[in-house]
Amino acid sequence: MPITAEGSTFRLDTAGTSYWFRTTSFGHLEHLYYGPRLDVQPVDAVAFKRSIQIGATVAYDQSDLTYSLDALPLEWSGTGYGDYRYSPIEARLPDGGFASDFTYVSHEIVPGDTPMLDGLPSSYGTDDQCSTLRVDLVDAATAVRLQLFYTVYDAVDVITRRAVLINASGDDDPEYAAQSTGTAAGPLTIRRLLSGSVDLPDRNFRMVTFDGDWIKEAHRHDHPLAAGLVANSSTTGASSNRHNPGFLLAEGGADEDNGWVYGFNLVYSGNHLGLAEVGSHDLVRVALGVNPHCFEWTLQPGERFETPEMVMTFSDAGMNGASHHFHDFVNDHIVRGDWQHRERPVLFNNWEAHFFDFTEKKLLQLARGARDLGVELFVLDDGWFGQRDSDTAGLGDYDVNRRKLPSGLTGFADEIRAMGMEFGLWFEPEMVNEDSDLFRAHPEWAVRAPGRRTTLGRNQLVLDLTNPDVQDYIIESVGSVLDSAGISYVKWDMNRHISDAYSPTLSEQGRFFHSYILGLYRVLDAIFRPRPQILLESCASGGDRFDLGMLCYSPQVWTSDDTDPIERLAIQGGLSYLYPPSCMGAHVSQAPHQQTLRLTPLSTRFNVAAFGVLGYELDLKYLTGLQKKEIREQIAFYKEHRRTFQYGRFSRFDPRKANKIGWQTVARDGSEAVSGFFQTLATANEGYDTLRVTGLDPARRYTVTTRPQYLYLDRFGELLKHILPVTLDPNGPVIRTAGKVYHLTDCVETYQATGALLAAGVMLDNQFMGSGYNEHTRLLGDFGSALYVTTADLTEPPPTGFIRPGRRRKS
Ligand code: GLA
Repeated sequence: MPITAEGSTFRLDTAGTSYWFRTTSFGHLEHLYYGPRLDVQPVDAVAFKRSIQIGATVAYDQSDLTYSLDALPLEWSGTGYGDYRYSPIEARLPDGGFASDFTYVSHEIVPGDTPMLDGLPSSYGTDDQCSTLRVDLVDAATAVRLQLFYTVYDAVDVITRRAVLINASGDDDPEYAAQSTGTAAGPLTIRRLLSGSVDLPDRNFRMVTFDGDWIKEAHRHDHPLAAGLVANSSTTGASSNRHNPGFLLAEGGADEDNGWVYGFNLVYSGNHLGLAEVGSHDLVRVALGVNPHCFEWTLQPGERFETPEMVMTFSDAGMNGASHHFHDFVNDHIVRGDWQHRERPVLFNNWEAHFFDFTEKKLLQLARGARDLGVELFVLDDGWFGQRDSDTAGLGDYDVNRRKLPSGLTGFADEIRAMGMEFGLWFEPEMVNEDSDLFRAHPEWAVRAPGRRTTLGRNQLVLDLTNPDVQDYIIESVGSVLDSAGISYVKWDMNRHISDAYSPTLSEQGRFFHSYILGLYRVLDAIFRPRPQILLESCASGGDRFDLGMLCYSPQVWTSDDTDPIERLAIQGGLSYLYPPSCMGAHVSQAPHQQTLRLTPLSTRFNVAAFGVLGYELDLKYLTGLQKKEIREQIAFYKEHRRTFQYGRFSRFDPRKANKIGWQTVARDGSEAVSGFFQTLATANEGYDTLRVTGLDPARRYTVTTRPQYLYLDRFGELLKHILPVTLDPNGPVIRTAGKVYHLTDCVETYQATGALLAAGVMLDNQFMGSGYNEHTRLLGDFGSALYVTTADLTEPPPTGFIRPGRRRKS
């Protein structure tokens, strides 16, 4: 049984982890242990010892001076009884004060997950995949109740937590009345209610967060924890590109594959607060939930407030271990519907090719080109509706612009389908331009604070999704477009942070941010639940809302507007700590890159994007025939290994040097692995490089080969003159023309080895350094990369040693 209650102790066990707590003699929930699975009994050995009064603490009760809440590891802590660490709750209770003291009343264990009631998305599982413990607590002085839910996902080593606060003041339920002393009925105002909090023994932790901004999302930052609080918080109205809600706590010395690592995340898309606080008694409090920023929510007697779900995992196999749990959890218990576990199509998006400047003719030409490359889904991005010729007008008016699309949306979609591709469409339903018919008809639907200046972002205002009329309008207008043109994919964008937060329809303005997100969830549910065949890709200027809440509706997210592969190593790499490749939209675009001006090889652009859901987003008109041929081969390669890329076991390697990044993904049946070797800035006279492939059968024999990729002549510039038999201007017309039809073959290596040897590491060929060149030289330079495919050899017995044919193919 994953959950057992014996005496006062609760044991929550997953396949590889155990989480224990117990009720104390005063009824508080004392945290005991979270770590590798242990099947020992009794649990006292791990409990914090109390034999003396800890100096300068407040005693909870004079009958036991050793009992101080400030020095106890707790599962929940109220306010006002001597625990001075950050409390998950701050509320004015019906007695008018802020003190709260929740003690145990009863509990229940049920198979499966328990549905959430108040419009929040949550994880889900069948009765044999998970079970749920509900612990009921009461604040005796006011009869206010707190329910703590723990859902245990056995196979994926994840436990989720959430809290429900019920204003039961005035209620005389006999079960609670026995423990309640007071209780005149009255309102309760929540100023902070986090989803959960837990106190872990300090292990010299680092808090690892994923932070950034537009086009630089999810860069990893490590914050060594010392005394005090480290907060990971968003106040932009979205889960945000500033600070992703997910974070890790890694013990001192932990790396990608070693050490104790705890992971935390939140099934929520709005303002969040996560924190780690090292208290004065060597306990680290971790808490996570809706951000208290501008939050105030009053509960009348009989009303309740439900928090979003907090997700926890643990691994003693380093950060990759924690990531693997999170990846399985997202694929198995967050993503749902027709697209769960299903391979995602290779798409082409017209945005970077045209921006707002397109005609039907141009689009069809682009689509034909995409189809010829092997693309499966053509996506028409911004600019297809209303007067949307720039980002200053038209948002809100989802009537097709006939000047641009004379055949209408249906006619255009039919043309795309006739080419053999699916058709997808962009919307930004939560926003409005002042220059739009929608704003002219309903100025009161835009979020603005009365009597104050209005602030725009990307020239647009936010629609008031707290207002049910606005929600209904979006459900109706987007839904009817979807049905009119048989759309099979939607890119749902959201392109500004919320400011001027105010809604005339709310009873209290402290509800704004949370109500907005509840409104968004209602809209998404109403539009997409009846249309399960549609693949939803959520986007918020790229990854401004990359979170578990959105993933409950959209199986994939547009990771970042930044498609520069070197930037993407940090962005996709950062997100991979928390989310699987199956949900990361990753596109190949033009070079030099439009935001960084970085010139990267087409091979590297693909090699990075392949570790996600592959797409292309560039103007095909300017590609040479050779480049198109290379892309065709890339797409064919991706399709061949798509399941491994999207659903394989993805891992990162600790970089031995800062300029080398290694990723790999191993097919779930162990039949193949694909590894990415990426070099950022080359250094002169590069040392030896190793390729490690882990997670394979140690005794089995494998063959490793590089994915064939093109090396274009223009990478060599004037160096060409040293190898050509005739003297030619390297920048002249002959070489330029030759470069359009002729390429060298890049980085070809083949090795055979056992899984054990591959885990130890294979030495790769020398890198080019100017002192010679032969068929064993790897030409990486700045931003070079290679993909290595490892396939199991089923016919031959494992070799005794290492065989290295090192054969170089002819171009
Ligand atoms: C945002 C998105 C882009 C694109 C544009 C269109 O920036 O992230 O991918 O859709 O909007 O305006």
